Amino acid sequence: MDEKLECVSDILFRSIGTPEGLRFLDIGCGAGSTTIRLGKLVSSTASVTGIDISEPMVSFARGKAKGIDNVDFVLDNAQTYEFQPSKFDGAISRMGVMFFTNPIQAFSNIHSALNKGSFLTFACWAPTEEGELTDLLLRAALKHTRKPIMIPGPGADRLLMTRSTLNQSSVILDFQTCRSKHSRFISEQESLLRKMLA
Ligand SMILES: C[S@@+](CC[C@H](N)C(=O)[O-])C[C@H]1O[C@@H](n2cnc3c(N)ncnc32)[C@H](O)[C@@H]1O
Repeated sequence: MDEKLECVSDILFRSIGTPEGLRFLDIGCGAGSTTIRLGKLVSSTASVTGIDISEPMVSFARGKAKGIDNVDFVLDNAQTYEFQPSKFDGAISRMGVMFFTNPIQAFSNIHSALNKGSFLTFACWAPTEEGELTDLLLRAALKHTRKPIMIPGPGADRLLMTRSTLNQSSVILDFQTCRSKHSRFISEQESLLRKMLA
């Protein structure tokens, strides 16, 4: 999965360049591959903390990062975790900010952990109506279930709500839409789903 999501990481990492600062956060870091990649990118005096709510994911990430001194992991809910105020100079997430039960609370909490002028750069699925893949997934599922299903997890639709809230704040937003043709992973899933629907 990590390998297949490398193309998403590449977009994410292209967006942040080589970040300046001493402390960085990876939200919903999962098995830690982006945390480790960021750890290798930043200066040797800088460190990266990955936070994830899943114990197996964090254990796996800790194992993978053994021997890497500037990376550590926190097992907790990023929505409610009591971060040290203004601790981080930037935060990233690869598909890890779509599952908050209360995105406003979660992003406010993350905001409190960031220094003034820091970045928050994340990748997430496009909203359902813009996501051709989501539509294909739902149609493929419908063929078997014969009744409409909801995609589990709040997904990007909730993020849209968050976007409108963030738009009213002092946060500077820059959204980029990456189309499926940029991703081998998505192309593979797409052709599989099209075969199922044929
Ligand atoms: C789609 S996975 C992405 C994992 C990782 N960022 C990657 O790209 O491989 C989403 C991750 O978000 C984590 N997650 C979901 N809700 C969370 C929360 N409230 N706080 C922290 N992590 C959360 C999940 O445990 C999962 O590891």
